[in-house]
Amino acid sequence: MTKPAAENGTKSAKMSARGVKVFYGEKRALHGIDVDIYENEVLALIGPSGCGKSTFLRTLNRMNDTIDICRVEGLITLDGADIYDPKLDVVQLRARVGMVFQKPNPFPKSIYENIIYGPKLHGLATKKDEFDAIVEQSLKRAGLWNEVKDRLMEPGTGLSGGQQQRLCIARAVAVSPEVILMDEPCSALDPIATAHIEELIDELRENFTIVIVTHNMQQAARVSQRTAFFHLGDLVEVGNTEEIFTNPRDERTQGYITGRYG
Ligand SMILES: Nc1ncnc2c1ncn2[C@@H]1O[C@H](COP(=O)(O)OP(=O)(O)O)[C@@H](O)[C@H]1O
Ligand SMILES: [Mg+2]
Repeated sequence: MTKPAAENGTKSAKMSARGVKVFYGEKRALHGIDVDIYENEVLALIGPSGCGKSTFLRTLNRMNDTIDICRVEGLITLDGADIYDPKLDVVQLRARVGMVFQKPNPFPKSIYENIIYGPKLHGLATKKDEFDAIVEQSLKRAGLWNEVKDRLMEPGTGLSGGQQQRLCIARAVAVSPEVILMDEPCSALDPIATAHIEELIDELRENFTIVIVTHNMQQAARVSQRTAFFHLGDLVEVGNTEEIFTNPRDERTQGYITGRYG
């Protein structure tokens, strides 16, 4: 299989989308998306409600497979390999491309059990001290260790909203994914918890590639290196975040970032 050419000759694409169309029944939600996602970058997806941001995000780890009427066309690659290849193990794919949702959704289990669920499922560890090490490292990476290290056996659902979202990030990180997808991860959080997650995203970038949907343009400007603007199922433009916010090429982007609609 040939690797799609990168937009930017110097960086290699961790994931690429080419001509991606998504249908819900007869209705087409995405009209042909082309974009590269580079290693160790944060790519922000912005655009008005209903433009297809979540739909596109879900194509990247085949979460759309769980929606009966949903059909995906086009090519999406991870390290050059087609992720819609029928021979591909989807469970394995979702370990490599993890996801954090809008509403924090810890399992109704202990903090410890929340973290080891994935590593157990994927056979990443067998001994207690191996699981202990994964729990500590994941919680540290999610900036939550100091707050919970003395109550690992307490329920994850007993944490504050911001802590629950960091627990979900720790759970995603625990299986050592390569890419983390985040769908409006701060929209249910207060400003302090939001700031905490934004700082965390910047740190996570060292080890992971991140794609984040946000309806908050300041957040996109703060956390991402590149931004893609979606509108009515099209990707209108993608480029360096600063460029998109200060000097957009398309008038639809201009209209959105200046608040004329959205
Ligand atoms: N499960 C679904 N079934 C049917 N239509 C859907 C479903 N999810 C999303 N859509 C439709 O696809 C379009 C894009 O939605 P979505 O990806 O959720 O947009 P965004 O995340 O940008 O708000 C919308 O018209 C929406 O109604
Ligand atoms: Mg959405």
